Amino acid sequence: MSGSLGIVAPESAASILRAPTPGEWVDDALGHVPELLQDHANCEKKAASTALALMFAYPDDRALGAALSRLAREELRHFEQVTRAMAALEVPYVRQRPGRYAQRLRSAVATCDPARKLDLLLTGALIEARSAERFALLAPRLAPPLARLYADLAGAEARHFTLYLGFARDTAPHEWATRLTALALHEAELATEPDVTLRFHSGPLRVRP
Ligand SMILES: [Fe+2]
Ligand SMILES: [Fe+2]
Repeated sequence: MSGSLGIVAPESAASILRAPTPGEWVDDALGHVPELLQDHANCEKKAASTALALMFAYPDDRALGAALSRLAREELRHFEQVTRAMAALEVPYVRQRPGRYAQRLRSAVATCDPARKLDLLLTGALIEARSAERFALLAPRLAPPLARLYADLAGAEARHFTLYLGFARDTAPHEWATRLTALALHEAELATEPDVTLRFHSGPLRVRP
């Protein structure tokens, strides 16, 4: 790991996404706020645990470890913010089955290094970019306290997207762009094709009211 230490020039999260979130998904999410918040809380926990898993997998990359340690703490603070909002809105925190997005995105990740490390960093960038895009879409259409929380989170997740993408570029300067294109196409399908359950990273609902 050398060079920019994971820091790249700020850019729009949408710049690496191959398809925008459909308007139908935004409408579905606004009609299922309790389910959205429950999945959102789980996503923040998962984002922290993904960062920790990368730290365990690549302990030799000290710059990555330092950045991900900070990121994991920030994701857990987000988890606490979401659960506080849920309590304020009297939304129960029930166990929920995960959607298809993370598992199917992870199925495209290479199983052996050095390709695996690049894929994990790029999928991290894509998940953070999609999160930033969706927080920004939802924030103007939500009432307080969620409007402010989601506007703040849009900025935080955009920073995380930039961080992951910077480490991917440093890890594989010649391969990252081609691999990003392939993974981003897969991600775009998962985020836009009709889905059976409303989740933060799902597609629009297959059966709509
Ligand atoms: Fe987060
Ligand atoms: Fe994040």
